[in-house]
Amino acid sequence: MTHDLVIRGGTCATAADTFTADVGITDGRIATLGTGLDGAEVIDARGKLVLPGGIEAHCHIAQESASGGMTADDYRTGSISAAFGGNSSFIPFAAQHRGMGVSETLDLYDSRASGQSVIDYSYHLIVADPTEAVLAEELPAAFARGVSSFKVFMTYDLMRIDDGQFLDILSVAKAHGALTMVHAENNDMIKWMSARLEAGGYTAPRYHAPSHPALAEAEAINRAVALARLAGAALMIVHVSTEEGARLVADARREGAAIFAETCPQYLFLTRDDLDRPGMEGAKFMCSPPLRDAATQAALWRHLQAGTFSLFSSDHAPYRFDASGKLSNGPDAPFRRIANGMPGLATRLPLLFSEGVNAGRITLQQFVALSAANAARLYGLAGRKGTIAVGADADIAIWDPEEVRTVRQADQHDAMDYTPYEGRELCGWPVTVLSRGVRVVDGGALVAAPGHGRFTARDPIDLTGYPGADIPELDPARNFGARIAPERRG
Ligand code: URP
Ligand code: ZN
Ligand code: ZN
Repeated sequence: MTHDLVIRGGTCATAADTFTADVGITDGRIATLGTGLDGAEVIDARGKLVLPGGIEAHCHIAQESASGGMTADDYRTGSISAAFGGNSSFIPFAAQHRGMGVSETLDLYDSRASGQSVIDYSYHLIVADPTEAVLAEELPAAFARGVSSFKVFMTYDLMRIDDGQFLDILSVAKAHGALTMVHAENNDMIKWMSARLEAGGYTAPRYHAPSHPALAEAEAINRAVALARLAGAALMIVHVSTEEGARLVADARREGAAIFAETCPQYLFLTRDDLDRPGMEGAKFMCSPPLRDAATQAALWRHLQAGTFSLFSSDHAPYRFDASGKLSNGPDAPFRRIANGMPGLATRLPLLFSEGVNAGRITLQQFVALSAANAARLYGLAGRKGTIAVGADADIAIWDPEEVRTVRQADQHDAMDYTPYEGRELCGWPVTVLSRGVRVVDGGALVAAPGHGRFTARDPIDLTGYPGADIPELDPARNFGARIAPERRG
């Protein structure tokens, strides 16, 4: 059998295994794993790593904030940057703002993404307005469309939902096998701290960090975990930035709850000292939750090594360092009026590979799990993406584990004017990235055209290994039955 393409002689890795094999690709899928395979085209991968293409599971693309600011990257630039960073697919957000319907939101993002992306994509639906119609009809319609995850906010006045709404959304998600994601920070704690800082005249970017205390994240994660456990629903806590937050996640997981968490490069590779750069430079390093300190970095690495985090995502939220982005409220805007977020699509995986795998902190299997395999399982792509296996999409990144490069903004291929990691020397880079067997990036050049990437309808979350909720308060036999039955008899 002659394959369309054979990747010859590389060291293949999945989240479970490392093996040497040729990868035979036909019709965009992995058809054969073996030796001596025939291909109409051959890529020589001897001395290279053949890994599942990354799945970037947290990024903001062509998305306006509730106050109207638009991200710098659209589906063309965002997908290209992601591909240069070793990703074969990504899942940005489709943001419902108050007053918008869910179908209207998804149609809007379809119009933004269609024909633009060089890699496959889906959306996490942000739910900011969970009306009765949204809960009863529109979320089920979104699941039917293959959007099997959504995000809620516990903070930001224009986006946040209250605890009752959170429980409603968790219940609907549970009924459909969807995964709810949460931005967990206590809104009132942040507002209270911000007001005090501002009243004291402390408005420079560096004061963004104390305005979002670690306690605000810990309180909200604790509450979010409790709400998910009451609803018996799975929950993904995104961008965990504190040791306290990570410990709460680890505790819940140890107790068997289907609680998952993600951390991001900025919390492992940057600190709040970066907010102290001269002038307004610190604004480049403002994100929420904010950067913490070196001790927190070390604690988060330990949790990454120990398995507390299922995902390592960029939270790419690109706002340029000019009047279109960070400085849209003036060159000296107070921290509360500076857009939150930083870029990172192209650096997420090289940072993790260099400082994780090559530095001996994590194994290659953990790298694959954190970069692709766990996202596939949790976000409904298992069997199709995130693995090197017969029948899976040929979404593959070929890495040179010894190549040394210095991070430069010019190599990010995004629409930004800075990278927070400028000048860092990293060892280990993706050299060829395939999407469904088609070369997207090869030898430092973009090869695929916008429109190659297509919307991927996703399946329900795979909760294998999680025994399911045992919530005494919700058990009719033990609770409602005991209380209600005598009344009925009477
Ligand atoms: O600062 C950040 N991360 N901005 C993006 C929005 C979010 O909360 O993820
Ligand atoms: Zn967030
Ligand atoms: Zn985000």
